[in-house]
Amino acid sequence: MSVQTRIFDLTDKVALVTGGASGIGLAIAGGLANHGARVLIGSRSVDKVEGAVAQLNQQTHGHDPGDPAIAGVQLDVTSDTSVQRAVRKAVDLFGSLHILVNSAGIIIRKPTFDLTAQQFNEVHETNVTGTLRCCQAAGHLFREQHGGCMINIASIASFVDLIEVTAYTAAKNAVLSLTRSLANEWAKYGIRTNAIAPGFVPTDLNRSMIENTDRGRRILEKTPMGRFGVSDEMAGAAVFLASPASNFVNGHTLVVDGGYLASGIGDSFAPWASSSDV
Ligand code: NAI
Repeated sequence: MSVQTRIFDLTDKVALVTGGASGIGLAIAGGLANHGARVLIGSRSVDKVEGAVAQLNQQTHGHDPGDPAIAGVQLDVTSDTSVQRAVRKAVDLFGSLHILVNSAGIIIRKPTFDLTAQQFNEVHETNVTGTLRCCQAAGHLFREQHGGCMINIASIASFVDLIEVTAYTAAKNAVLSLTRSLANEWAKYGIRTNAIAPGFVPTDLNRSMIENTDRGRRILEKTPMGRFGVSDEMAGAAVFLASPASNFVNGHTLVVDGGYLASGIGDSFAPWASSSDV
C-alpha cells in the first residue's frame, strides 16, 4: 500500500470562491490559500472584494509576498456574463482553475403567507441558479482538462426545516440535490462535486436573527456543543474536499454543525434528560 504524504496540499491549485469577500467564503478562501492554493475571490462590491483581498494576503502563509496568493474579481452569480468573466480571470491571472467554491448566498426571513413569489425566486436565483451557473462555467473548463472539484455550500436547512425562511430552506434542499446530480453526471469528466452544510455561524447573513435572540437561544439549546460555529471552522472541510485527501469522495455533503442535526429532538437538553426516573 502506498503512503501518500501531504494529502491536504493544494500547491499549484487555483480556486474561485464566490461570495468570498465575507463570512464563510472569506474563511474558506483563506484556508485554501494557507494550504498552497491561489485563490480568486468574487463578490458584487468591488470595495468589499479589495478589502478582503488585502486582509487575506496579509494572513496567508507560505506564499511569496511579491507573488500574492489572493486576487479579487467583481462577480454577480445571477449574471452569466459576470460568471464567465470571473472564470476567465482566474485562468488569465493564475493559469488555470481547479477548485470552485459556491459560497454566494442570500436569505429572506418572513412568515410564508407574506413571502412573494418574486422573493422566493430571488433567493433561488442566487442560491441555486447562481450555483448551477458557476458550476457550468467552471465545469466546461474542468471537462476539457479532465479534472476539477466543486464545493457547494448547502446548510443544515438542506436536511431540516428552519422556521420562516421557506425560500432559503427550499433553495438549500435544491443545492443538495444539484450537488448529487452533478456528482453523478460529471464524475466521468474527472469532476468531483461535494457540499458543506454549515450549522449556525453568525455572519452578515443571519447575525440579526440569531445573536442575542430567542431564536438563537433555542438553537444553542439544541446544539450539543452549546455554541455557534465560526466561519474559520468551515475552512477545514473545504480544504479536505478540495485536496487529494478526498479523491474518492463525490456527491457527499459534509455537515459541520456542532452536532445540531445529530441531536434530533434534543433529548440531552430536555427537562427529563437528567432525571433519575428515566
Ligand atoms: P455572508 O453574507 O457573509 O456571505 C454571503 C456572500 O455572498 C456575501 O459576501 C454576499 O455579498 C455574497 N453574495 C450575495 N449575492 C451574491 C451574488 N448575486 N453574486 C455574488 N455574491 C453574492 O454570509 P455567510 O454566512 O458567509 O454565507 C455564505 C454561505 O454559507 C451562503 O451560501 C449561506 O447560505 C451559507 N450558510 C451560512 C450559514 C450561517 O449560519 N452563516 C449556515 C449554512 C449555510
